[in-house]
Amino acid sequence: MNRRTFLKTIATSAALGAVVPITIRAADPKPALLGGQPVHTGGWPRWPQWREAWEPGVLKVFRSGKWFRGSDKRVEEFETAYAKLLGAKQCLATASGTTALMVSLHVMDVDAGDEVIVSPYTFIATYNAILNARALPVFADTDPATLNIDPATIAGRITDRTRAIMPVHIFGMPCDMDLINAVAKQHNLAVIEDACQAWLAEYHGRMCGTLGDLGCFSFQESKHLPSGEGGAITSLSAELIDKCNSFHNCGRAFGASKGSGFFTRGNNYRMTQAQAVILQQQLDKLQQDTTVRRASADHLTAALKKIPGITPVRLPENSRAVWHLYPFRYDAQQFNGLSRDKFMKALAAEGIPCSSPYHEQYNDGLIDEAINSRGFKRLWSSARLKAYRDSFQELKGNRQVCATTVAMTQNLLLADRSDLDHIPEAIRKIQAYSAELAKA
Ligand SMILES: Cc1ncc(COP(=O)(O)O)c(C=O)c1O
Repeated sequence: MNRRTFLKTIATSAALGAVVPITIRAADPKPALLGGQPVHTGGWPRWPQWREAWEPGVLKVFRSGKWFRGSDKRVEEFETAYAKLLGAKQCLATASGTTALMVSLHVMDVDAGDEVIVSPYTFIATYNAILNARALPVFADTDPATLNIDPATIAGRITDRTRAIMPVHIFGMPCDMDLINAVAKQHNLAVIEDACQAWLAEYHGRMCGTLGDLGCFSFQESKHLPSGEGGAITSLSAELIDKCNSFHNCGRAFGASKGSGFFTRGNNYRMTQAQAVILQQQLDKLQQDTTVRRASADHLTAALKKIPGITPVRLPENSRAVWHLYPFRYDAQQFNGLSRDKFMKALAAEGIPCSSPYHEQYNDGLIDEAINSRGFKRLWSSARLKAYRDSFQELKGNRQVCATTVAMTQNLLLADRSDLDHIPEAIRKIQAYSAELAKA
């Protein structure tokens, strides 16, 4: 078979959804799982990364005895710097990304019995924050090409209870916010961005976290700007951030959010001084790392898209991702039917750690537990809760994404080019031996 007929056969078989036979060439080295040498043996950059130069600033806080937010100005300084970096009007630091989401939902008046339209393809904290507000997370479908919320599936899920849309910029890839904001505007809904994985991600010249009413960030240890735990809310509205401040600080008056005594509800979701110093010292590094991750992701995408059966994601026009994870979709048909699990095992054996990030979490039990609780049964009719539960069947795009996505963590993107090139090399090797690996 000449090259042209071979490519034509692949294209036709793929279109028919058939397994495409891949044959081994004599020169193909054996995969590690079949007794060959792993492609990559040198390890990957560690995460999180610490610099000795940051230590005096942190020690200074501890030695001062001023640890809590109210004792000093370090948290406010970080807030000012982070807002400036993002082009936000203001920022409020919080104890975590989860609490940032909870504060934002409260401030945007999401109340018991309300509904929030959200992406199902996200870390579970997104669901939990909505459930904690005694509101229903109503899942729009996931677009398999982008792994983000499919804006076309939002409007059909709006009811008279819907108060907000919560798009998640998953893996730091911006959602198509113009389309989402247009639906929100038409139906008078709040937009709360879950930007917990999207520090410095850009859409149409603006940063994620400044594209809706409020944007929420996480600074947990695995994140690009880590302080163990921590979070932030950003906005173009100083008034909304003042309200967030009051709610996150036990309901105390702040700025334009004022009244007499305990005039509003609240909780303690405050950040500490030491966390703020750790974060502020990393802002330069965040920008430098982001440049490196972007260049690495572009390099990887160029190589991976040449491999049949590996599909990198599509980003909205005029947007830039920051790649908290680097994902692609895997088509087993192009690997002699080698299952995704076996593919990932083979890749890990080559020294390339990878995972299947999210499964259909709404089937796990937490949603059932919530909708069978006394409170939820009081707030919605049994017919609505049944229709809600049944609607998960319609999430066909999300099901496909959960079943076919493979991703690598961001620290791999900080490696040298020669190490990065091991990723497509390992995948090509696995493809050449996919029939043998499928049988193993
Ligand atoms: C998309 C998303 N939302 C929310 C959160 C919650 O953030 P945290 O772990 O800081 O509470 C995370 C954290 O992993 C996240 O990835």
